[in-house]
Amino acid sequence: MPSNTLFAYAGLSHASHATIKSLDLDAVRSAHGVVSVITADDIPGLKDIGPVIPGDPLITKSSVEFYGQVLFAVAATSQSDARRAARLARVEYDLLPADLDIEAGRKANSYVSPMHCQQKGNVDFAIDNAPFSLEGKFASGGQEQMYLEGQVSIAIPEENGNMLIHTSSQNPSEGQKLVAKVLGIDYSKVTVQVRRMGGAFGGKETHANQWACLAAVFAQKTKRPVRLRLARADDFSSTGKRHPFESQYRVGFDKEGRIRGLDVDLYGGCGMSADLSNAIVDRAMFHIDNCYYLPAVRVRGYRVKTHTVSNTAFRGFGGPQGILAIENIIEQIATATGIDPLKVRERNFYTDEGNRNRTHYAQTIEQHIIEPLVTRLTETSDYYERRKDIRKFNVDNDVLKRGISLTPVKFGISFTMQHMNQAGALLHIYTDGSIQLNHGGTEMGQGLYTKVAQIVAREFSVDLSRITCTATRTDKVPNTSPTAASSGSDLNGMAARDAATKLKKRLCDFAEKHFSTPRSSISFNNGQIIVGKEKYPFEDIIKLAYHHRVSLSATGYYRTPKIYYDRETATGRPFFYFAYGAAVAETIIDTLSGEYRILRVDICQDVGQSLNPAIDIGQIEGGFVQGMGWLTTEELKWEQTGRLASHGPATYKIPAVGDTPSEFNVELFPNSPNTEATIFHSKAVGEPPLVLGISAWTAIRDAIASIAEYRVSPILDAPATPEQVLAACDHLRSSRAL
Ligand code: MTE
Ligand code: HPA
Ligand code: MOS
Repeated sequence: MPSNTLFAYAGLSHASHATIKSLDLDAVRSAHGVVSVITADDIPGLKDIGPVIPGDPLITKSSVEFYGQVLFAVAATSQSDARRAARLARVEYDLLPADLDIEAGRKANSYVSPMHCQQKGNVDFAIDNAPFSLEGKFASGGQEQMYLEGQVSIAIPEENGNMLIHTSSQNPSEGQKLVAKVLGIDYSKVTVQVRRMGGAFGGKETHANQWACLAAVFAQKTKRPVRLRLARADDFSSTGKRHPFESQYRVGFDKEGRIRGLDVDLYGGCGMSADLSNAIVDRAMFHIDNCYYLPAVRVRGYRVKTHTVSNTAFRGFGGPQGILAIENIIEQIATATGIDPLKVRERNFYTDEGNRNRTHYAQTIEQHIIEPLVTRLTETSDYYERRKDIRKFNVDNDVLKRGISLTPVKFGISFTMQHMNQAGALLHIYTDGSIQLNHGGTEMGQGLYTKVAQIVAREFSVDLSRITCTATRTDKVPNTSPTAASSGSDLNGMAARDAATKLKKRLCDFAEKHFSTPRSSISFNNGQIIVGKEKYPFEDIIKLAYHHRVSLSATGYYRTPKIYYDRETATGRPFFYFAYGAAVAETIIDTLSGEYRILRVDICQDVGQSLNPAIDIGQIEGGFVQGMGWLTTEELKWEQTGRLASHGPATYKIPAVGDTPSEFNVELFPNSPNTEATIFHSKAVGEPPLVLGISAWTAIRDAIASIAEYRVSPILDAPATPEQVLAACDHLRSSRAL
């Protein structure tokens, strides 16, 4: 931080739905250390920072739509002075009725954007004529990203009204655009830099911008650097989370457990604005099939408006919610037919046999990976043997019950907005032979900088230590997409490779002429450039090329081929390819208290040809545990006022080290290069493994079901908190008594 930095803080609403009768900021203005106070009227340019459509006021003016919304902001000479001052406002509200959950939003017929429907075949006919059918409801909760580093930005005013922003954001280009619009200046006058984030998990795809914009308004006004960092409780309350979902379904199936038709309505709880909810609910709809062929299907996606903070991206981006909805249906079918859930799953897998290979949005599944992957995992995890043991254990034990479950995942890779699937890179070679790399992707702990540096090192056949990856900056690579949709290395890796290829070609062209040697005799090998029979250190050829006036700097660019989606007809090929994985989880529950532990987890994940196995395994372990947290102990609770009660680690329980499965085996599916021409035939890994956490939830469900000999479906929504598990156990015990 520069030495004369001011500290900004936001004044937050204490009502969830209201009109503001009066806002008295006198006490704020006269508080100790306060230098500047701003309201909506002090914003020089754009006042609404909605990323896709308006709906997200930077500072709200006359109305409040969630508890924790920004009413004003204050800048002071210390962080504590700013925070204290921000609490001194006197606000009078005219309270309005608030819809705090999906049910209330639906009752009020309140949506942030229109319903979208994907349909294939004659659904009603298929379900009505199926041998069996079921209908039901299902709900899954939201989730806080809980990045270790909270939201934070520093705005530094520069000459000629320019602005430099350091921010913890997945989306520097969007930050640049919004800061420029809010300040009323050209995009080219704003530079956003992201060195790295202490975690993001989707929570900084759009929700980092507001804090950068507020800091920038103060910086422009006071001509001093301004930092805004949210305290954890306010970060919880005032930034978006994973969308909670509710679904209503009707499914027809045969006695083998094969699905004939599925009719499902998905309701995403969007909070007070659209933000990214259109794409998120779409992704849930795209994943309603998971790995299963649905002969006839209708899926409707509703974007429910509630008076809570606008929900946003969270690892999986709606995909996990869609997959969980169908996995619950599969479990219901398994209970109804009495067939092992794994068998039901396998029988429904996509396959080329009988043309059971087209999704409900008309993309053909070209590579059938899930079947061999699940077969392998079934063997390596000893699934059937252990299941037998568990059944026996459950007969012998009345209080403690064990459960086991395998769930598969198919996850579509690409932004579903076609234009976002592009990336750029900038590569310099200096005359000492060192290489400086820059690309549009941001580092949040997922290892992207390392992977892309490896790709460049491999292209030049030099040691990784020769490459320095500089901070992501909008003045180095412009107009970038957020680092999201798991596509960071796919997109930026390809762009960096493109830049490297250009420089290699220039060096080869030069060497060919300079040494009068055919191209075929020139190669890059282990820090050397081989020309005919001679071997030169890489840096020697670089120096030589420089003296012969060869440009040693290049940009790289990539756009994903083949993808499109026509939202009118709800068909297309939205995904370049799919990433697959499966997990087997084993649990033990205490049926008298509802407590449980996840004892053992075995995972097999398809990452194509891994760019970095250590990073990939780290992503798989972390993703699984985060998904397990979503479906077990992480529960968001709101008070009746709309205040978030679970706003810190004491009241919101993410998995801790001690919750890690004591046996945790992760394998990368061997010998499975991506058949699409991705970067070195690798596959994305960031989000898909989160969805494997579903196996923890289904394992708990399996353990509960043992109480009534697996004949009755436990009533279990997500998250399966100990309280929910206990209630489900009690319910099954009473059904057994009947
Ligand atoms: N891993 C860590 N350690 N921290 C994070 O914030 N974000 C996840 C995933 N893995 C995240 C993470 C999310 S939501 C996405 S989309 C991807 O990383 C983004 O990075 P990638 O595209 O480079 O995989
Ligand atoms: N995934 C993640 N982030 C996104 C997407 C997506 O499909 N679309 C827009 N932002
Ligand atoms: Mo990840 S939810 O696409 O940032």
